Amino acid sequence: MLDKLKTYFALKDGPGRSSFFSWNAPVFLFTNENVSGYLERIGGVSGKDVLSVAAGGDHAFISLLSGANNVDMFDLNYLQKHIVELKSKMIKYLPYSDFMHFFFDNNRFFSSDIIRPIWKTFSPGLNTFLLMYYRHKNNRIFRYASAQHMDYDVSQIPYLSNESDFRDLSKLVPEKFHFEQTDITKISKKFTQKYDVILLSNIFEYMYPDVCDLSERMLFFYNSVLCPVADNNLSQLGGKICLHYAWCTEPVQWEKFMNSFQHYVANSIDDFNLCHHKFSTVDIKSSCKQNSSFLRPSDVVLVMTQNLKQW
Ligand SMILES: C[S@@+](CC[C@H](N)C(=O)[O-])C[C@H]1O[C@@H](n2cnc3c(N)ncnc32)[C@H](O)[C@@H]1O
Repeated sequence: MLDKLKTYFALKDGPGRSSFFSWNAPVFLFTNENVSGYLERIGGVSGKDVLSVAAGGDHAFISLLSGANNVDMFDLNYLQKHIVELKSKMIKYLPYSDFMHFFFDNNRFFSSDIIRPIWKTFSPGLNTFLLMYYRHKNNRIFRYASAQHMDYDVSQIPYLSNESDFRDLSKLVPEKFHFEQTDITKISKKFTQKYDVILLSNIFEYMYPDVCDLSERMLFFYNSVLCPVADNNLSQLGGKICLHYAWCTEPVQWEKFMNSFQHYVANSIDDFNLCHHKFSTVDIKSSCKQNSSFLRPSDVVLVMTQNLKQW
């Protein structure tokens, strides 16, 4: 009941537009990151427990396809949970061609005919989300107004570009994911479990908008997000946080930045802290289409690894 009411209030005047991200902002349908690229580069997630931002569910789906044991999710935007449920159930119970038409065929985008056979499996909240959409047919509910946007690169998302991955995923997607609606700064209060890998997407980019200096912003992020999450929710032996995703950028500059941040942390962290934090960067193939002044633009992921100190 609460789920239904919350969804109704989230959408009754259209999606929230007061800030770029909020509890009822327009939803992301697919990822714009090369998720499989960086999961592989950080050592994979096979057999591991993962905590991820929900967004359109792709970080979770790709983690499961890469062998993750379990994926839990959080998001500030309550409505993302409906997108994750909708996609999960379509992947589980409908054929690949229906899924692709529903999202990527302009003439059948969000066609109710396609999902009618599985409507009874939907939660009351997802039901309300879809009914509100069909009543108003307002594509502003979607970030980028639909799935037809160049930022959604189908070739980067394995279960979209490869039908056999879609079929494999249908056997891996659970009936229900553990989802918590929360701001990133409160993760450690909402989740009690420890995870081997935590995926934070590019949320960092939008935090502390009043602070211009990148080092200062990273320091705030380290103290208010990374340290509490590492203390409470990250495996002490090699647990990794993918703490930021940057597109079409210069890897060397990020490497230098992370090295100097590493020096700062090494000199400032409490000596009695059981763990130490190591920062690194991985660069991966970019699908960026904009002209770049860089010689070899890549996408870059910033990674923090936690390990027990050797005394
Ligand atoms: C940062 S966005 C960007 C899209 C992302 N690159 C992707 O691949 O989907 C991803 C998700 O982060 C969520 N988000 C943004 N700020 C947040 C915050 N402070 N706490 C928790 N989630 C947040 C948004 O609601 C959105 O669903």
